[in-house]
Amino acid sequence: MALRKIVTLGDETLRRECKKVDKFNLRLSMLLKDMADTMYDAEGVGLAAPQVGILRRIAVVDIGDHLYELVNPEIIYRSEEQQTGMEGCLSLPDRRGIVTRPRKVTVRAQDRHGRTFEVEAEGFLARAMCHELDHLDGHLYIDIMERELSEEEIQEYARSQELTEDRE
Ligand code: NI
Repeated sequence: MALRKIVTLGDETLRRECKKVDKFNLRLSMLLKDMADTMYDAEGVGLAAPQVGILRRIAVVDIGDHLYELVNPEIIYRSEEQQTGMEGCLSLPDRRGIVTRPRKVTVRAQDRHGRTFEVEAEGFLARAMCHELDHLDGHLYIDIMERELSEEEIQEYARSQELTEDRE
């Protein structure tokens, strides 16, 4: 397992536009593996290549049930219906904001072998996909957040999540 260093706000890599991947080789497979390991180690639900200093259109997402490896992803459908909720980012530790996103999206991407596939995502998965794809164009959630949560609000939210998990 090779963990990569996650860059944080202020690193210019986070603000650059990423280039398309055109080589589907061992190096790409290793990067995807490292990115997933790094995301799990940091207890995140998504990670984009620029967050580990690589300006390529690559992201991994796993909200708890499936690992999506997304190479050259694009959103080909966004629902008009929106969702508003809390969002964070591994490159902005200990911060959270309220962000509105489409409730459903369809993402078209390639896998590590270059095969094209589509994912229909809704709810939190749709939010995670939008967030990670934004990274590939140098955009961060703080650019579009309605407001930033205070430390008390973040703790309150964490407690309410624990209560929900206790009930399940
Ligand atoms: Ni992020």
